[in-house]
Amino acid sequence: MTALLATVALLLLPGTDAAAAEAAPAATAPPAPAAAADTVPVTLRINGRTHRLQLEPRVALLDALRENLHLTGTKKGCDHGQCGACTVHLDGQSALSCLRLAVMSQGQEITTIEGLATGETLHPMQAAFVKHDAFQCGYCTPGQIMAATALLQDKQPRSAVEIREAMSGNLCRCAAYPNIIAAIEDAQRA
Ligand code: FES
Ligand code: FES
Repeated sequence: MTALLATVALLLLPGTDAAAAEAAPAATAPPAPAAAADTVPVTLRINGRTHRLQLEPRVALLDALRENLHLTGTKKGCDHGQCGACTVHLDGQSALSCLRLAVMSQGQEITTIEGLATGETLHPMQAAFVKHDAFQCGYCTPGQIMAATALLQDKQPRSAVEIREAMSGNLCRCAAYPNIIAAIEDAQRA
């Protein structure tokens, strides 16, 4: 334990050789580019509010939501379009915010999990998830709820099998799938 602490101190404490090496700029490192020169104005309409940002064109909508606007209800899972944790609505349609650039999302009505409830009243899908205990850790839950609400917007009745198929892009590492499907079926009936 003592040896471990000594090693950590060597690596982290200011004044040590390791810390000095960490802090020293690399001789060959290029100068940091001026941030402002790399950014463009981006206007996003989110949950009924207009947000004006200055972003690099490469910034994903997911990162703009979480890092710039602190709307952290939208989760980053895989960051590669494979888990559904980052699902939001764009003009009412389900969309993976990790696969979209923020600049591409201008002019669209973006809805995140923060915009689903009405004041203190949960959206019926949120209430159904609570009622059916459709989460464990809850990390996938915002994405599940956003995907499910987009799915039911056409008001077409769907069987449990059809719901499961439609929701197959939203993964849950806690395997709360039976409860998630039960919640969506309940919301559908409501
Ligand atoms: S974080 Fe976007 S699909 Fe996984
Ligand atoms: S509730 Fe934990 S990942 Fe779905």
